[in-house]
Amino acid sequence: MSVRFWEPGKEYLRIEDEVMAAMREVLSKGDLVMRQQMLDFEHNLAAFVGTTDAIGVSNCTDGLRLLLEAVGIGPGDEVITVSHTFMATMAVIHHVGATPVLVDVGDDHNMNVDLVEAAITPRTKAVMPVHLNGRLVQMDRLMEIAKKHDLLVIEDTAQALGGAYLGVRGGAWGLAGAFSFYPAKLLGAYGDAGAVVTSDASLAARLRELRDHGRVSKTGFSGWGWNCRLDNLQAAVLDLKLKKVPEWIGQRRRLATIYDEELADVGAIKRPPAPDGGANFDIYQNYVIEAERRDELAAHLAAKGIETLVSPGPVPNHKQPVGLDHFHLPRTEELCAHVLSVPLNNELGEEQVLEVAGAIKDFYS
Ligand SMILES: Cc1ncc(COP(=O)(O)O)c(C=O)c1O
Repeated sequence: MSVRFWEPGKEYLRIEDEVMAAMREVLSKGDLVMRQQMLDFEHNLAAFVGTTDAIGVSNCTDGLRLLLEAVGIGPGDEVITVSHTFMATMAVIHHVGATPVLVDVGDDHNMNVDLVEAAITPRTKAVMPVHLNGRLVQMDRLMEIAKKHDLLVIEDTAQALGGAYLGVRGGAWGLAGAFSFYPAKLLGAYGDAGAVVTSDASLAARLRELRDHGRVSKTGFSGWGWNCRLDNLQAAVLDLKLKKVPEWIGQRRRLATIYDEELADVGAIKRPPAPDGGANFDIYQNYVIEAERRDELAAHLAAKGIETLVSPGPVPNHKQPVGLDHFHLPRTEELCAHVLSVPLNNELGEEQVLEVAGAIKDFYS
């Protein structure tokens, strides 16, 4: 048996009838751009996250960039974030002309909140926590620090739809958050898609303008904007899949528990951190282990037909040619040398998890 890392085709076939019915409705009516299906999805997504507004956009990267632009972050400003993320988090800060200031991560692979205050300067305008792998940053402490220093909090929730900390979902803690619906995500589109969430009505209105050329009416514009709209066809599919998200999260959490139990005695690996005293509701977008002899383990699993992924890494993002290699981030660098994501997707079964865990145990025995 081979175990694929993700299986969008298999998921599609399982829900094909519903998907095709939704697509037929959109296509036969010719409702292609900014129509009811997109408004419905925005409404349902905001209700799910716990914000007043959701704004569909072309992808999470555009969502984060529009957010920074909408709140006026630009040249001369600094934004604190992490290198241990997908490159897009740092890229958007660069693209609005601001400077990314990187802090190291902790054992939960997320922003080490203890390091944030030391990174604040008079130029710091915002902090961008990344809820990596479906697990939230310690948001209560981060919000306190942000409040004390008058910083905006913009959450990169690309990987954490449905993840919560102290009962508050990712995207509902800060001023705003941006989600990715890239096909490999828990809620995946059939192509690129994203959304921004916020409970700030004027920010929501500004984002709606910016994503659609700055348009405020059929013929009126409030200034320069972009074309970063969410396609209606994608929105229709996302809206029907959103209803399945709680079930998919439950399945991922069950499978993660099996990995946890099966791998508990393997001394050469560190499993993802246990939930933080019950405060963190992890949706396991990824199940990431830290492994000794990581590359050999990955090769061993590949030989058995088991796909894995090294991300972020092996080269840390701040060591890529983006002009950020002056940051000294020892835990980030250590993680990039050891992290390995093993299969965990909406289509994975218990038997496959046991097979992967068995192959890992074989390797180290
Ligand atoms: C943490 C993080 N931020 C941002 C992004 C960018 O998302 P998108 O591909 O939708 O632009 C991703 C995508 O994988 C991500 O994982």
